[in-house]
Amino acid sequence: MSQDKLKEAVAWAALHYIYPGAIVGIGSGSTVMYFIEALNTIKHKIDGSVSSSKESTIRLKDLSIPIFDPNEVDKVDVYVDSADEINSQMQMIKGGGGALTSEKIIAAMSKKFICIVDSSKQVDILGRFPLPIEVIPMARTYVARKLIQLGGLPEYRQNIITDNGNIILDVHNLLIYDPIKMEKTINNLPGVVTVGLFAIQMADVVLISTINGIKTVVK
Ligand code: A5P
Repeated sequence: MSQDKLKEAVAWAALHYIYPGAIVGIGSGSTVMYFIEALNTIKHKIDGSVSSSKESTIRLKDLSIPIFDPNEVDKVDVYVDSADEINSQMQMIKGGGGALTSEKIIAAMSKKFICIVDSSKQVDILGRFPLPIEVIPMARTYVARKLIQLGGLPEYRQNIITDNGNIILDVHNLLIYDPIKMEKTINNLPGVVTVGLFAIQMADVVLISTINGIKTVVK
């Protein structure tokens, strides 16, 4: 089965967690695009959605799925998003698409985070996928130097300005043995807006698409 088919299958499996009247948080990326297609089939049952990226918003609007501004809602019932890597503690690297800050905000607002991945995203130790960090432009070289001191090799993501007007550093060669400590350390660097480590708040449910079907892991 192709990776796309695995993504599609796990995206449809996430519908099981959407209930009538829910406000659904929508992540970003290709797996989530399949989820939006699936959500379209039950859009009249939900209250609406909250979107984490321009791309997801465009697709939600195309399908006339109602969208709320995050400031208009007091909570999000279920957040559905994918990840670039996930470990057995349900901690993740996210931000390959550059929308990590909005993703973290909506994840924090949500009662339940359902992570939908294909099995290629599972790792023992986070960090083979370059860790994305959103940084205020004037702090770029300062933060990069600090990341080198932490053992990483930061690379400036060229020609990308985030939805918040910032830049992204992708950190290579950083094997993350203590994800919570690393998330706190990088969060504390002046100029860092968001680190794409989702370890302090991990997923509540992980749906993993394999050639033998969908595996469910619950916190
Ligand atoms: C987007 O910023 C990311 O956090 C995505 O969740 C991640 O890149 C996974 O993307 P795909 O679903 O395209 O693999």
